[in-house]
Amino acid sequence: MDITDFLVTKAEMVNQALVNYLPSKDAKPKTLNEAMHYSVLAGGKRLRPILTLTVANSLFNIEEKKVLPAAVAIEFVHNYSLIHDDLPCMDDDDYRRGRLTNHKVFGDAIAVLAGDALLTYAFDLLTELEEDFTPSQVIQVINEVSQGAGYQGMVGGQVADIIAEGKEIGTKDLEYIHNHKTGALLKASVRSGAILGGASGKELTALTTYATNIGLSFQIVDDILDVVGDEEKLGKDIGSDIGRDKATFPSLYGLERSKKLAKENINEAKEVLQIFGDKAKPLFELADYIIARDY
Ligand code: IPE
Ligand code: IPE
Ligand code: MG
Ligand code: MG
Ligand code: MG
Repeated sequence: MDITDFLVTKAEMVNQALVNYLPSKDAKPKTLNEAMHYSVLAGGKRLRPILTLTVANSLFNIEEKKVLPAAVAIEFVHNYSLIHDDLPCMDDDDYRRGRLTNHKVFGDAIAVLAGDALLTYAFDLLTELEEDFTPSQVIQVINEVSQGAGYQGMVGGQVADIIAEGKEIGTKDLEYIHNHKTGALLKASVRSGAILGGASGKELTALTTYATNIGLSFQIVDDILDVVGDEEKLGKDIGSDIGRDKATFPSLYGLERSKKLAKENINEAKEVLQIFGDKAKPLFELADYIIARDY
């Protein structure tokens, strides 16, 4: 199995669904719809929706088409988080996915509102799952996405990240930031796929451990790439974290130890997939991809 081909094929499926679900660019209010299109269709690895689709399809044989509302909703939440993360009052970044950040093009107010619109629309979309899944599954997925995105998850982590700027923090606090600002939504992506797949308690526990480990590694690698990455490939400026005196793995542990820690988490993630046998091969390779990636 070639993970690059796999990712390209799945990303194409996700991109098509994103286009289908986004409001028309010409509908009112045009500026808002253009701003949503601008960021959502700028590219992006689509890792979170790919995880949702892969868990549901590869492990539990659920048709991908049925899972798309959840996958797309999670990508919308992620895109909202990126638009807000780049704002002058947050990380103040000028480039994202190889183009000017949303607020640089549309202004701060529209960027805030485009983010708000993507976040709220995501929950509207999740209700479409009722066509193919039980009410209990739909409620559980709404719960996962809400907790992954909100004060218990991503927003909580973003707050801790902002508060830690310019401060010396310890390893526990740094892990809290990473597990929440990034890990929580990745966990929701994996668990939503598992819930829609009808996973057993044991399977859900294993997949939660998988997700937690790839989530932490993913943000460690993001921190590393902010130091040594290629701006062209990344599509965003490097040095953003140092510029804002952010708490990161390289700043606390140095680059080499950070890489080692990311690898240890990936090994742990792969280990727990064993209960699924060969069906877990794509998730196994996705874990390796997370530390091998250069964008
Ligand atoms: C960037 O996420 C923000 C983090 C949570 C680290 P991605 O690296 O998944 O960004 P895209 O979606 O591929 O642009
Ligand atoms: C972002 O972490 C986490 C989000 C919830 C968006 P970063 O601030 O490090 O992400 P990048 O590097 O800007 O993509
Ligand atoms: Mg940030
Ligand atoms: Mg940022
Ligand atoms: Mg970063």
